[in-house]
Amino acid sequence: MLPWRRVLSRRSAVDRTPNALARALEKARREGRGWLDATASNPTAVGLGMPERIVVEALADPRSARYEPHPFGLPEARRAVAEDWLRVDGVAIEPEHVLLVASTSEAYGLLMHLLADEGDEWLVPAPSYPLLPHLARLNGIRLVPYRLAAEDEWRVDTDSIRRARTARTRALVAVSPNNPTGNYVQPDELDALASLGLPLVVDEVFARYPLREGARGVPSALLAARRGAPLVFALSGLSKLAALPQMKIAWIGVAGADDRLVEEALGRLEVAADALLSVATPQQLALRRWLEAADEVRARIGQRCRSNLAALQAALEGTAASVLRPQAGWYAVVRVPRIGTDERWALSLLDRGVLVHPGYLYDFEDDGHLVLGLLSEPAAIDAAARVLVELMRGLR
Ligand SMILES: Cc1ncc(COP(=O)(O)O)c(C=O)c1O
Repeated sequence: MLPWRRVLSRRSAVDRTPNALARALEKARREGRGWLDATASNPTAVGLGMPERIVVEALADPRSARYEPHPFGLPEARRAVAEDWLRVDGVAIEPEHVLLVASTSEAYGLLMHLLADEGDEWLVPAPSYPLLPHLARLNGIRLVPYRLAAEDEWRVDTDSIRRARTARTRALVAVSPNNPTGNYVQPDELDALASLGLPLVVDEVFARYPLREGARGVPSALLAARRGAPLVFALSGLSKLAALPQMKIAWIGVAGADDRLVEEALGRLEVAADALLSVATPQQLALRRWLEAADEVRARIGQRCRSNLAALQAALEGTAASVLRPQAGWYAVVRVPRIGTDERWALSLLDRGVLVHPGYLYDFEDDGHLVLGLLSEPAAIDAAARVLVELMRGLR
């Protein structure tokens, strides 16, 4: 047998050792001990997906029998996205500036290809979405964190951006609302980001899930183009916006203060997208129908998230654990006393039959954070709250 070092690339050699929580889950599974999952983020697994009839009917378009490849997706599907952006968020974008991809992960990959050479750097928020480091590794770029600071709400720490920026910085990522902290990018923050003169990549997949009355930020970072950002890429997709992760359609909206730069970026993206042609025709033909049906799906999800959040907040009131106030999204961050690591807390909860995520997975700068998925069945959130209350009592 050939030694794998001679066959497989160095860059694909990632550490696959399961962490302590994964090992504990495996052990519980082997021993037949069940647990309640308070980390759910797959709407189709918790009864919150789009109704089956609409999913299926929309796919039955006879035009699916023909293949007409378009690098950025079928014009009518791109028009449907542009019209939906205007209808729901009041954001105007030309359909020609919308490109369809299979997932936001693919969108990140294309943009890393467009905006960075091997070893170049992107600034990314911390804490944030755990998949970003993996996508960066696949695309050979380096991520450098900038800070989100927890004040009354979580805010971008602009000094930390100044400190993190180097001659190799090529773009800045913002997630609005951020996963898991739930803060929207606010107008003054968007101004500060636009003034950096860097391309902005803004992930808005959770933007239509406010968790309380009046919680809002900028309707879309595409508006940064009018505030001087040379290039802006706004990312969204069906997986969150319409609770259809299985349909694999996401999109990038492209804008920018510099028209020629925008045209050149679109031209280069077209060549890259033409090499992939990754979005399936039946899904593109169904897209308009799904976007129309998504308002109701989001209303149901919003209700689940808000009632889970309220239950969690009420249960932890007056204990040593507290819920950090999110503005939007599908997650809640619970702050716990910093005795022992986040992992220890998560293991203690699992021992008592509930799964939550330790904060370190999201790159919090210190221990003392647990992350819960607000899509979870209410019984799982109630159980997590009950166990947390028990554990907090045990501290006294
Ligand atoms: C911030 C953020 N962006 C994107 C995604 C996933 O989107 P997609 O399924 O389109 O890759 C997630 C999934 O949890 C997410 O948290």
